[in-house]
This record gives sequence, structure tokens and C-alpha cells, in this order.
Amino acid sequence: MIYNKTMENFIEIKDLKKQFVTTKGFWGEKKEIVYALNGINFNIKKGETFALVGESGCGKSTAARCILALENITSGEVIFDGINLAKSDRKTLKNLRKRMQIIFQNPYSSLNPRMKIYDILAEPLKINYKLSKEEIQNRILETADMTGVSRDSLSRFPHEFSGGQRQRIGIARAIILKPDFIIADEPVSALDVSIQAQILNLLKDLKKELNLTYLFISHDLSVVKYISDRIGVMYLGELVETATTQELFTNPKHPYTKALLGAVPKIQKDGVPKILLSGDLPSPKNLPEGCKFASRCPYVMEICHTINPDYSVFSETQKAKCHLYTKD
Ligand SMILES: Nc1ncnc2c1ncn2[C@@H]1O[C@H](COP(=O)(O)OP(=O)(O)OP(=O)(O)O)[C@@H](O)[C@H]1O
Ligand code: SF4
Ligand SMILES: [Mg+2]
Repeated sequence: MIYNKTMENFIEIKDLKKQFVTTKGFWGEKKEIVYALNGINFNIKKGETFALVGESGCGKSTAARCILALENITSGEVIFDGINLAKSDRKTLKNLRKRMQIIFQNPYSSLNPRMKIYDILAEPLKINYKLSKEEIQNRILETADMTGVSRDSLSRFPHEFSGGQRQRIGIARAIILKPDFIIADEPVSALDVSIQAQILNLLKDLKKELNLTYLFISHDLSVVKYISDRIGVMYLGELVETATTQELFTNPKHPYTKALLGAVPKIQKDGVPKILLSGDLPSPKNLPEGCKFASRCPYVMEICHTINPDYSVFSETQKAKCHLYTKD
């Protein structure tokens, strides 16, 4: 999809912050704060696939949980189709939840092992709608056909399936309520590489067929390159760069984006200068002042240790948070 600024925002994330308070010590007497999200901003247009990438612990899943209102946010706003989630009553949230679904990384643990596939798919329908047995059956068969889950597998249990097939079942469960927004949190990283492309193609086909909007989370840039329209690069709870897929892979701006791209041999041939990631990744419990990437950045300057950079804007769709571009 070509990004068009004039299109209405379907999802708007404004200065989203999330802190977890954890306790330490034998009696739990010491409190520690985990700064998981430190003010992220992005929007997703209807029909777009927006990806969040970044290393483990940078806050991708926390962002997903906050957007789905599964987690209380510390501050900021999550707006879904014009509705501010934090200001919505329970009934509105319940209705919105039908429209937003999640596909998890691990198809092994996300399906109840004691339930037959048919019942796994029937459950969300029973919880959310008053449907006749026949209506439920029709919807299940239709969804199974769309996701490549064979009809005879419906009477079997999750352990009887391979990883790829289980992820098809996870996808079927996510679309059975006919949502319009899906968060896929590392949906292929637990799968064999040979199976990954099939699942990504299924997600692409479903998006077209059902007019879906995706937030796609991954640490694997080659996967993200294949599926997304725009990308947000996360580092320690901040978005350090956002750009279209084309911009990010041909003309990355942030040193961290360059380092991530340099780490992928298949992508390295695009001519991006290679930066190796070294140095310590700071703890989200003890965030550094200034730029959070300073401890690992080969271009680090004095200012980077004290002042957190603002965004520099490179195009309608590309911006990055780095002092290299704020110098006179
Ligand atoms: N419930 C929680 N309580 C305390 N800290 C948490 C909680 N959930 C997440 N965190 C912390 O918040 C930070 C962000 O975690 P998150 O799971 O969002 O990262 P991620 O980018 O999804 O990582 P991964 O790629 O490993 O899935 C981490 O430091 C994590 O330890
Ligand atoms: S602000 Fe400084 S430390 Fe941070 S990425 Fe830019 S050059 Fe590197
Ligand atoms: Mg995660």
C-alpha cells in the first residue's frame, strides 16, 4: 500500500508511556520501575501494515498489549478508529475488542491443549455472539477454508499438528470474529524458515480479502521487509526512526537502524554501510540520560550523553531521532 498522508488515521498512538513497578528484596520492600515505553508516537492508516522492529526487551509486546487495552497505560493516548481507549467504558471496550485481535509468536502455547480445534474456534463466537449451532458451524468452516485449516482437522487436538498448521489455527482464531485490526506479535519467529513464507503469504492474502490493518511485530528485518508498508524502529522504549519500507532499506538514517540492517547478510547487499552492534545495552530500569543508544553508537558525540535528541524530519514519511542531523 502506498502511504497517503491525507488518509484518515485508523490507529493513533500519542506519547505512549508504560512503566511497570516491580518489587525487589526478600520482603518486596524495594520498588523498581521498568521504563518499558518512553513516549512513542505513530499512526497506522486503514489497510496499512505497520511494523515495529527492535531487539528483545525494547518494548514491542508491551506496545501491543497497551494498544489492545490489555495493559493499563501510564500516560499518553491510544486511539482506535477515533475512539480513545483509556476514556472508553467497559461496553465500548468489549465491542472494540472484537475488532482487534492478536496472533502470538508461539502457536504451541497459545492454543489450549485440551480443546479440539473446532471448540477453540467456536469459543470466541460463543462468548461474543448469540449464534445458532448451524451459524457457528458455518462460520468455522468458512474460516478454516480461508486459512488452510483442513475440515477434518477440526475434530483433532493442537498437539497433533505441526508448528505451521498450529499457526494457521491461531490465525483462524484471530479472524473468526471478523476483526478489522490485527496485531501479529512475532507470528513466524517460532517456525522453520521453509514454513515462514507460507504463513506470511497467508497473512498477506487475508489482509486483502478481509480489508485488514496490521501491526506486525518482529526482530527479523527480512520478514519485515517482505510484509510491511512502513516501519518503526524501537530502542529501549523509544521509536528512533520511522520510515516507509523503501526508505528504511535504501536510505536508513539512525545509526541503530543501520546497525540492524548491517546485521542481516541478505539485506547488507543493498549498500548500507556496516555498523556492528557492540557495547552494553542499558537496562530499562536505569535509563541513561541523553540518547539511549549512546553506549553502543560509533558516532557518539558529547551532546549525546546529556540531551535526548528530537526528531529530524527527512520526508513526509521518514524521521529519526539523532543528533547527527540536529547539528548546525
Ligand atoms: N509485566 C511486566 N512486569 C515487569 N516488567 C515487564 C513486564 N512486561 C514486560 N516487562 C519489561 O518491559 C520491557 C519490554 O518488554 P517487552 O516484552 O515489551 O519487549 P519485546 O520488545 O516484546 O521483547 P521480545 O523481542 O523479547 O519479545 C522489558 O524490559 C521487560 O522485561
Ligand atoms: S544521538 Fe548520538 S549517540 Fe544517539 S544515535 Fe545519534 S550520534 Fe549516536
Ligand atoms: Mg515481545
